[in-house]
Amino acid sequence: MLTKIIAHRGSKGIRPENTLPAFEKAIEEGADGIETDVHMSKDKHLIIMHDETVDRTTNGTGRIFDKTLAELKRLDAGGYFGYDYLGTQIPTLDEVVQLLIKKHFTGLFNLELKTDKIQYPGIEESVSAYMNQQTLPFKIIYSSFHPQSLIKMHALNPTVEFASLFKLQTKFARKFYRNQLVKDWHPDIRWVRAHRFFLPHVQLRPWTVNSTEDMRYCFKRHFDGIITDYPGRAGIIRQAI
Ligand code: G3P
Ligand code: CA
Repeated sequence: MLTKIIAHRGSKGIRPENTLPAFEKAIEEGADGIETDVHMSKDKHLIIMHDETVDRTTNGTGRIFDKTLAELKRLDAGGYFGYDYLGTQIPTLDEVVQLLIKKHFTGLFNLELKTDKIQYPGIEESVSAYMNQQTLPFKIIYSSFHPQSLIKMHALNPTVEFASLFKLQTKFARKFYRNQLVKDWHPDIRWVRAHRFFLPHVQLRPWTVNSTEDMRYCFKRHFDGIITDYPGRAGIIRQAI
């Protein structure tokens, strides 16, 4: 089985993260999957960004949840990465999904609900309603660091695949494993390497697998996938294994 290469926030290493150019590049580079993060604006639009605030990746300040879509759209989400990307907007979930459809993307779409720091009221219902009304040529995997969000999503979408995200807290991870809440695990690669964790019945897709050494480690063990900022380079390394 070939380990899938999943582009983290798009091709984050070479394009401004979580923007349409980053997703386009991931498709161009032949990524098997695309990972991204969703939040909610003040006026309840589904917004693609990693952080809860716009400070790090745009020319604005403040929380996504305190801004309307129109206010978010006025911000520059590309300039922080380089002059060439000045004027790039923050995308909505709809804009990303429509881009993937237009580009005939047929891989995995891993949508992370960023509900661990802010509980956006109704985000699970809103994401489910939007995604379920689309005819999608790709497979969805929902993930979250917040177990309650995954439980809610599962109730709303019992047939969809879910992945539990976890950082370095071993106890938390083991509890999830014992409870068999999810069979797909998206752990920090450092956790995987520290615990030498690989079980055949768990679909393991660690993040963020950027070094050649980590990539080889995952490819050689036939993990189900890796989540990487550099899908193009990962493809070359996978081919050489
Ligand atoms: O989905 C894997 C990874 O994206 C989780 O961490 O902080 O990059 O969203 P983060
Ligand atoms: Ca993420």
